[in-house]
Amino acid sequence: MDNSLIIALDFASGREVENFLKPFEGRELFVKIGMELFYQEGPSIVYQLKELGHRIFLDLKLHDIPNTVKSAMKGLARLQCDLVNVHASGGKEMMQAALEGLEAGTAAGGERPECIAVTQLTSTSQEQMNQEQLIHVSLQESVLHYATLTKDAGLDGVVCSVWEAGVIRENLGNSFLTVCPGIRRPEDHPQDQKRIATPELARCSGVSAIVVGRSITKSRDPLKSYQQWMEVWKGVNK
Ligand code: C5P
Repeated sequence: MDNSLIIALDFASGREVENFLKPFEGRELFVKIGMELFYQEGPSIVYQLKELGHRIFLDLKLHDIPNTVKSAMKGLARLQCDLVNVHASGGKEMMQAALEGLEAGTAAGGERPECIAVTQLTSTSQEQMNQEQLIHVSLQESVLHYATLTKDAGLDGVVCSVWEAGVIRENLGNSFLTVCPGIRRPEDHPQDQKRIATPELARCSGVSAIVVGRSITKSRDPLKSYQQWMEVWKGVNK
């Protein structure tokens, strides 16, 4: 996980993913399968990408009653992804149930997927949070609160923006994962993201991993774009 750049494969079909990945042949990537792709292709897309040697973040953001989340996670554990997630706003009991499900679904001797919780979406602003969720603290306080709850529930880390990663590390320790989407270079459009940060700032903030979608997937030359991102992110051309 440490210092990974996770590519968000936000595509509508397996065929589009196949086309996108052609130039990357022979490289082992860390990829994210989100709702758009999983709802179309189902578990088979996980198997296909694993077969190619890629590490998988299955970003389905589970949020339901504890019993439902536990059963769903039991099934997802069988896909043997590296990383899965839930919404922290589902509560501590729900997050504990997610872990129980993952443990129950992991084969004896196998490794349980790491499980992280979304705090506040990176597309949410302070104003939206205050007005729409009626949460009257700062965004950073809300994210830290959710992160603390997540750690208390026994999960491995959180999804947050780069702007909150530092305070989370200070309070919850370096081994608690901070996975950060909303990453944009200065020339990129923020699109629907609100709490954006550059890859340089992400690196200085010591986040565990960054998630990059459209800046790579929609670029004219995705491989070149990925290499440029890796240069900035890690200081090496991989
Ligand atoms: O295209 P972009 O780089 O904005 O993609 C970010 C990816 O990270 C998307 O797949 C989105 O679903 C995901 N994500 C996010 N914010 C979160 C959790 C996940 O943007 N809090």
